[in-house]
Order: sequence, then C-alpha cells, then structure tokens
Amino acid sequence: MKHFLSINDIDSLPNWVDEAINLKKDPYQFQHLGKQKTVCLLFFNNSLRTRLSTQKAALNLGMEVMIMNFGNEGWALEYGDGTVMDQGTSEHIKEAAQVVSQYCDIVAIRAFAGLVDKAKDEAEEVIHGFAKYASIPVVNMESSVGHPLQALADAITLAENKVKTKPKVVLSWAPHPKALPHAVANSFVQMMKLQDADFVITHPEGYELNPEIIKGCQVEHNQQKALEHADFVYVKNWSSYTDYGKVMNKDLGWTMTQEKLGNAKFMHCLPVRRNVVVEDAVLDGNQSLVAEQAKNRIFSAQLVLKKLLEQ
Ligand code: CP
Repeated sequence: MKHFLSINDIDSLPNWVDEAINLKKDPYQFQHLGKQKTVCLLFFNNSLRTRLSTQKAALNLGMEVMIMNFGNEGWALEYGDGTVMDQGTSEHIKEAAQVVSQYCDIVAIRAFAGLVDKAKDEAEEVIHGFAKYASIPVVNMESSVGHPLQALADAITLAENKVKTKPKVVLSWAPHPKALPHAVANSFVQMMKLQDADFVITHPEGYELNPEIIKGCQVEHNQQKALEHADFVYVKNWSSYTDYGKVMNKDLGWTMTQEKLGNAKFMHCLPVRRNVVVEDAVLDGNQSLVAEQAKNRIFSAQLVLKKLLEQ
C-alpha cells in the first residue's frame, strides 16, 4: 500500500479489523515504529474527531505530529497543469506537495467536496494532487468522495458489537438543514460490500448515491420496511447526487426515533444535529454506539499509520 486513499486500499477487511482490535488491546505495543518519524496533518476543513484521533494514533505509535489548518492559513493552491497563475492562487500543488514531503514521513489530508461541480469533486484534486506529487505516503482524512478512516472505524465497531454472523445493517438517510457531502455514506457502502451482512440502503427518492458505488446494493425507499429486523442502523445525511449538492428534502419524517430504531444499535459518524438527524432519546440511550465509533477512529488511524510505517 503506497497511500491510504480509499476503502479499495484495504487488502483484507477482516484481517484489518482483527489487527485494529489487537492494537486496541495494547495501543503502545508498536511505539518503536514511529521513533523519529513525523506525520503532518493538513486540514482544509473543520474537524474534531479526525484531528484528535489521528494525532492520538500517531502518538500511540511514538510519532511526532505537525498540524496545519491549510484551508485558512496556507497559500491558495493551484492544481491545473500549465495554468498562468495571475489570478487568486499563490502556490502550485507540485511545489506544495514536494515541500511538505521534506518535513515529514507521512502526510494526512482533509479536503471536503465543494458540492458545486461534481466533476471537480470527483477528480479529488487535493488528495490526488498530493498523492501524485508528494514523495511520501498520503492518508485520506476525508476527501471529496470518501472517508475511509471513518468506515474502517465503523467496521471495527460492527465487529465488536455484532451477535449474529450475518447481521442486518441499514444505512438510513436523514434530514439536515445544510448540504452535506457523500463521502461518509460512500465509504460506508464500500466497506459494507466487503462484509458478510444483510445490507439495505434507505433514502427518499432523488437521493440515490453514485450508481457505481451502490452497484449490487439493495435500496428500499420505504424507511419503515427497510428498518424491519435491523441489527444496526447507520444514520447519515447526504445532499442530492443527481441534482448535485442540492437539499431537496428536509422531511423530519426521516429523523431516526427510538420507536423506529426498535432493538437495533444506532450508529452515526458525528457531528450530529440532535432532533433533526436523530432524536435525543436515541443518542442518550444505551443502544447508541457513537462514542465507540469515535473511539475506534484512533485504532483505524493507528492501523493505517502502522502499515505505512512498516512498508
Ligand atoms: N466523523 C468525523 O470525521 O468527525 P470530524 O469531522 O469531527 O473529524
């Protein structure tokens, strides 16, 4: 694995989950690996969990950590080849990636979708630009189209909590006042396709995810029907993919309630808007796995950093 950019970089999900659970039992067992190694975390967007859990993961491995809020503190980057840079951008990704490579051993990047230009978002120019021009491994801390560290943490959480060999897992769309990216949902779907599970996606019509990503998945527009006999319910908002980046539905009838959840475990990547995405009773109840998911972000990041340090 040269970089960790998507779920496709996981060669065996069951092996990775087992290895992460082993790391969790003794987080400091590989402190020697990170000695005199530095990871640089570049944030083009806000974060709580990703920033702190990736930092903690690196510290557990004995690494030094540098963090930069690139979005508002770095130079505006140019990505085009051959661009005459006489407008707003100050530095080309070619130099920026090469320079960052002089200061650290691994670079991890968060750069969300703009949700205006689908082609531009799908080109993932920030993370792919760094992967192309950096001379060190690049880690995706949520790009335009994927959040693989979150999905790996979710896989660990599912493994730790399932009581059936083949649980029923439902990805249920939820309302939200703002247009949100598809990255979390995309990576969760890609991860679920690697699981032995009865997996169902439910959302209002018009909220279909990228057809390439959901290929082979069961989609049920009737939320109540989709939730029948669910063992895990993963709730997430995303904006329209077909009418790209638009909020077309704010129907609170899709909000997750304790009644709809039944006996299932509740999952969400956080941050979450209470009483819009999910009602208080669910988050405050004992079926919620959100804190466990957040904790497992440490071990998904630690496993990825460990694998990159070992290569
Ligand atoms: N789940 C997640 O990525 O959280 P942050 O946006 O706070 O990093």
